[in-house]
Amino acid sequence: VAVTALLTGTGLAAAPSAAPAVPHDHEYRDARTAGEPTRRFTLTAGTATVSVSGRDVAAWAFDGQVPGPELTATVGDVLEVTLRNRDIARGVTLHWHGYDVPNSQDGVPGVTQAAVLPGQEFVYRFRADQAGTYWYHTHSASDVGVRMGLYGVLVVRPAPVTGVDVTVPVHTLAGRPLPAPRTEPVEAGVPVRLRLINTDSTTHRYALAGAPFRVAAIDGSDLHGPTPLVNTAVLIPAGGRYDLVFTAPATPVALFVDGRAVYSTGPVSTETGGWPVLDPLTYGVASPVPWSRFDEEFTLVLDRGLDLRKLLPRYAHTVNGAADPDIPPQVVRLGDVVRFTIVNRSLVVHPWHLHGHHVLVLSRNGMRATGSPLWLDSFDVRPGDIWEVAFPADNPGMWANHCHNLAHADAGMTLHLMYS
Ligand code: C2O
Ligand code: CU
Repeated sequence: VAVTALLTGTGLAAAPSAAPAVPHDHEYRDARTAGEPTRRFTLTAGTATVSVSGRDVAAWAFDGQVPGPELTATVGDVLEVTLRNRDIARGVTLHWHGYDVPNSQDGVPGVTQAAVLPGQEFVYRFRADQAGTYWYHTHSASDVGVRMGLYGVLVVRPAPVTGVDVTVPVHTLAGRPLPAPRTEPVEAGVPVRLRLINTDSTTHRYALAGAPFRVAAIDGSDLHGPTPLVNTAVLIPAGGRYDLVFTAPATPVALFVDGRAVYSTGPVSTETGGWPVLDPLTYGVASPVPWSRFDEEFTLVLDRGLDLRKLLPRYAHTVNGAADPDIPPQVVRLGDVVRFTIVNRSLVVHPWHLHGHHVLVLSRNGMRATGSPLWLDSFDVRPGDIWEVAFPADNPGMWANHCHNLAHADAGMTLHLMYS
């Protein structure tokens, strides 16, 4: 569904050939947010004590809970979310991770809004026209803010639920894993959708035991022709989402994260450690790349370097040899088709995340993507990797483009995509 929306929503055919013709931000925003809200939520951020596997942990929470309340909507809804900050001194915002909202609703302090300080509020409004599994989190002091618990799930469903449809957000809080394992019996024959969300800063390995399953969607975009998998694990990058679907058998099914059962339909004992890992670039049915030429090209070389601007030079995570705020922005025009290449010359994984757009994977390490079109907003660029991705510039504004290991993002690895 999301793939179709992106392909038809690019404005490529309609794009004017000469003039930049960028609409004023407010015109664009109004077009996307018009209409009375049909789903209203209020989220109050504050310091809290939450219980994690039986131990009390100091946290920053939305409505006193980690993760925050699950926000759900159906395609066609207009969402209105009021954010209040009770006592988070570092300020709070809401960023809709993976949701291509109008720029003014993107929740990046200093770029699209000011951080919401204690006693203040901010109202977000956008149309739920993109079905799928997403999440929200603070983008103010995001490394510490998300680690302390300021995040939650956002699910937009194409239609009312039939069968079982559950979310499994995985995170660590004070070094302890969330969520607590849960067991829910499901009658044989019932369709089940597990929405897996990695809200941590590092990759997690997921394995579903007990039933053949399909990966129905990645990062909110449906895959074309996913085939059944058995005894296969998936790796979900920081910020990424996978939707797994299966039909409940008469015997128990269990989902393991890094070998620990987090969801099951009955008593489990399956060992999954040795399973091969799915490569999403070769999974599902291919369709041709919709573009034959690119209007803009960028290369981002990720590395580690000394930041000499500091009195005591320290190591920074760098892009093309520079660290935030000194990385030149990527400048595009509305209607452009943009290709960018990401090269990781460092020794650590960088889970890459572009705001406001999904990118189509063209190749990784010279191997062309041959499976279902993969529209990602979060992907792991491993040491030595070269990823080539492309996207239509169809959402004007100033967008963060950064590593989603949020400590790396804080330590320099953040740049911006802007429309001229
Ligand atoms: Cu989920 Cu800029 O981040
Ligand atoms: Cu990184």
